[in-house]
Amino acid sequence: MPDKGLGTARDLLKAGRRVLVLTGAGVSAESGVPTFRGSNGLWKTHRPEQLATPEAFRSDPRLVWEWYSWRRNIVNTCQPNLAHKALAQLTLLNGEARIATQNVDGLHLLALEEASQIADIDPPPKARPLELHGSLFRVQCNNCHVKSNHRGPIDTTSTRALPHCRECGTLLRPDIVWFGEALNAHTLEEAMTCAGAAEVCLVVGTSSAVYPAASLPLLTRRAGGVVIEVNPEATHLTETSHISVRGTAVHIVPEILSQ
Ligand code: OAD
Repeated sequence: MPDKGLGTARDLLKAGRRVLVLTGAGVSAESGVPTFRGSNGLWKTHRPEQLATPEAFRSDPRLVWEWYSWRRNIVNTCQPNLAHKALAQLTLLNGEARIATQNVDGLHLLALEEASQIADIDPPPKARPLELHGSLFRVQCNNCHVKSNHRGPIDTTSTRALPHCRECGTLLRPDIVWFGEALNAHTLEEAMTCAGAAEVCLVVGTSSAVYPAASLPLLTRRAGGVVIEVNPEATHLTETSHISVRGTAVHIVPEILSQ
C-alpha cells in the first residue's frame, strides 16, 4: 500500500533544488550490508567499546583490525542498490544536491562513479558524498596524520603483519570515526552549511540516534526547509519530520526521485 506522503515527497523534491540527503545504514541494508541497531544489527552481537574506540585499538589493534577486515570483506561482496543509484543520479544532475552519509561502505561513491560513467558526465564537485564517519577503505597514520586509500586484503595474523605507515612505520588505523572521537571538522562544517541552506532534507535509513549527524535535519527545519524521512520504522526523527514515508530505501527512494 503506497504511503500517502509519497506523492507530496516527490513533489517537494521535484520543486526543491537545494537538497541535502542524509543516509544511514538502512540505505545499504538491501545491498547486504548489516545495520547497527536493528534486531540483527551489529551492535546486538558486538560490543562497540571493544571494537570501535581509540582505547580498544590501543589495547588490541589486531582484534579491531579483524573486525574491520571482516566488514570490508562483507562490503566487497555488495553492490550499490537502486536507492544508491537514484541518489547518485540526483547529485550527478543537480549540482546543488548533496549526500552526507554516516556509512563507511563507500557504496554512494561507487554508485556515483558508475552513474557518471554510464551518462558520460563528469560529476559536479559537490556530487562526491560527504562521508561523515570515514571509510572502511581508507587508513590513517596517527603520527603523520596522512590518510590513504587501502582496498586490498588486511593481514591480521599478527600485529606486525597489520598495515604500517610507509613514511614513519607507525601502525595504521582504519579511517573511521570511533566512539568518543570528533568528526572531521571540514566535512562536518560542509554538511552543516548544506543542511542550513537546504530547501529539502531527505533522510534515508538512519535511526537518528547518533549526533552530530542526527542534528543535520534539525538545522534544515530550523532554517525553514522541509524534512522528509524514509524508513520502514519510526525513529527519533519521525516526530520532527514534516513527511515520514514508511518503506525500504529501494522501494521508496527511486519512486520519490522519479520525474
Ligand atoms: P542504525 O542501525 O542505527 O539504523 C538503521 C536504520 O535503518 C533503522 O532506523 C532501520 O529502521 C532502518 N532500515 C533498516 N532497513 C532499511 C531499509 N531497507 N531501507 C531503509 N531503512 C532501513 O544505523 P545508523 O543510523 O546509520 O557509527 O547508525 C549511525 C551510526 O551508528 C553509524 O554510522 C555507526 C553506528 O555506531 C560509527 O560506526 C561511527
